[in-house]
Amino acid sequence: MPTVTIQPSGKTYEAAAGSTILAAILAAGDSIPHKCDGKAECGSCHLFVQEGRKTISKIQRVENEKLDSIPGVGSKSRLACQAILGEENVTVELLGFGSGM
Ligand code: FES
Repeated sequence: MPTVTIQPSGKTYEAAAGSTILAAILAAGDSIPHKCDGKAECGSCHLFVQEGRKTISKIQRVENEKLDSIPGVGSKSRLACQAILGEENVTVELLGFGSGM
């Protein structure tokens, strides 16, 4: 069972492989913006994956297109609602600057 560690809070949660990072964070009772409820439309769930990028599902076209429209995107950027956990632990950094909408 993978864990998801959230920065900057440093909290670590157990998560289910095959769930999205967004679902894992919400299931743990933590909060993260998700204005479009996981449709890759709002970009508000944008975060940086600091560790464990290889275990997470690859970026699909819809996510890639949304990321392209978000300021501050970098090579570690993912949409939490589109990134699906694998078997290994991940560390993500919540950005806290949202993205409009
Ligand atoms: S919740 Fe809207 S893009 Fe992820």
